[in-house]
Amino acid sequence: MRRQIVIGNWKLHGDQQFVAELLRELMNGWIGVHQAEVVVCPSFVHMDLAGRTLGHSNIMLGAQDVSHFAEGAYTGDVSASMLHDLGCHYAIVGHSERRRHYGETNELVAKKFQAAQDARLVPILCVGESAKEREQGITLEVIGRQLQAVADYCGAERIARGVIAYEPLWAVGTGKIASPEQAQEVHEFIRRGLGPAGVVTRIVYGGSVTPSNAQSMFAMPDIDGALVGGAALRASDFLEICRAAE
Ligand code: PGA
Repeated sequence: MRRQIVIGNWKLHGDQQFVAELLRELMNGWIGVHQAEVVVCPSFVHMDLAGRTLGHSNIMLGAQDVSHFAEGAYTGDVSASMLHDLGCHYAIVGHSERRRHYGETNELVAKKFQAAQDARLVPILCVGESAKEREQGITLEVIGRQLQAVADYCGAERIARGVIAYEPLWAVGTGKIASPEQAQEVHEFIRRGLGPAGVVTRIVYGGSVTPSNAQSMFAMPDIDGALVGGAALRASDFLEICRAAE
């Protein structure tokens, strides 16, 4: 069956001391987390430090973004193979903050998804609707389009080998979480769209996940874990969410 996965997205937070301390707290508090896979995504500049601090621990390293280029004259970019070389296993692609603040389109996200997989990273593909789109009743249509763009570019079978994160925009960083039923409806829709290969694909929920609401999310049949922002910056909260995924 699918192994639950909890991913911490640290976004633009912390310095070297913060990163080292947070990781040490996570490693020290690592009691009762046996089944779930746990991933942390620090900023690019802290990934090397994070990798060295984690050593051979069970906590995996992920990147918050990745270039769609493999190499060349692309100032400021970080390639998937550079990340793989650092011991990184995962890369988030298409986070709503990248789409909103940096104008990332479905097509660019599809290229990033492929670039990550080509370098043996597992892409974590974020999809989600805005509050307005939900009000208009076009949630599933929007998410279907976001997934189709990746399927058109990479081939449908490749999506099933990634992780998919359903993150309603109105729930990211707002403290307003989707209900477990709302999330389940979308997760089921995504899994159905993946066809037979989708039985093994992990589909996680993201958006205002905290220790107090994680359990009810994880109880839904098609929710295989969480992508956690704010609560991932506090070791005790993040560990509690990880334990809830067991
Ligand atoms: P949040 O962020 O948990 O702070 O809502 C989630 C995310 O952006 O992935």
